[in-house]
Amino acid sequence: MDRWAGKVAVVTGASVGIGAAISQALVKKSVKVVGLARREEKLQELTNQLGKHKFFGVVCDLRSEADIVKAFNWVQENLGGADILINNAGVSTGIPVIDSDLDEYRKILDTNVIAPAITAREFVKSAKKRNISGHIINISSIAGHNAEIVQLPIGMYAASKYALTALAVELRHELGNTDIKVTNVSPGAVATDMLKDFLGNPDLFEKIPSLSDDDVSDAVMYALGTPPNVEVIDLLIAPRSSTSSLLEVRRKVAEMRNK
Ligand SMILES: NC(=O)c1ccc[n+]([C@@H]2O[C@H](COP(=O)([O-])OP(=O)(O)OC[C@H]3O[C@@H](n4cnc5c(N)ncnc54)[C@H](OP(=O)(O)O)[C@@H]3O)[C@@H](O)[C@H]2O)c1
Repeated sequence: MDRWAGKVAVVTGASVGIGAAISQALVKKSVKVVGLARREEKLQELTNQLGKHKFFGVVCDLRSEADIVKAFNWVQENLGGADILINNAGVSTGIPVIDSDLDEYRKILDTNVIAPAITAREFVKSAKKRNISGHIINISSIAGHNAEIVQLPIGMYAASKYALTALAVELRHELGNTDIKVTNVSPGAVATDMLKDFLGNPDLFEKIPSLSDDDVSDAVMYALGTPPNVEVIDLLIAPRSSTSSLLEVRRKVAEMRNK
């Protein structure tokens, strides 16, 4: 990780959860972090906590191409461009595809697939001009590898994460002649607001096996810390005994939703 000290990372969805944990871990390793999210007050809290010369919150709605381009221009003008891009922001849903309207489909796909494509494009444009060694890391999901095991209604979510898996492969092909690595990190359940909202039941949230946001951030740090000849393609991380307890979770969620 030492080679990244003093470099710049853009972390999307840095305001809470996994994105905030990754931002904290990067700052600890002396990386300057530009955190993108919509909630300014949450970004300000992180700036207060991490220091205003270490963490830079930029308000950005990732569903807006103009906002993303503006944010990357800010990074270029104020910090000379980014070396690391963490595509972490994401939204989930518990509304089945067959009950969702077009806006719901678009919200998931815009945030989870289109935004990472635009941020990657803007990141690479600048990285190529500066001829740097860079790294793009997407926070995907186990649902983007094996939707079969989930078997709960998650609407367009799994489709969006499969698309993110394929997007990483495409980027790796396109960037084969550069010094930019591409990695996906694909966790199972992580104890964040996303999981809490999805389950909609604090008791169940406490009970089900889950990873912490730091567990995911550790995986990101591992991928970033690999030597130049190593490219981590995808890291699948699950809480222990998650597969055996998944049936129980499914049963409880089904019970709750049928009440
Ligand atoms: N939690 C899990 O169980 C789990 C499991 C596997 C994978 N993941 C993935 O991990 C990533 C992070 O999830 P999390 O659990 O940390 O979720 P979270 O706690 O709900 O945080 C989501 C983050 O995304 C940002 N975001 C969402 N829509 C945005 C938009 N339009 N523009 C800008 N920022 C936006 C939010 O910021 P604002 O609201 O402030 O804009 C927030 O910082 C996601 O890609 C998720 O799919 C999560």
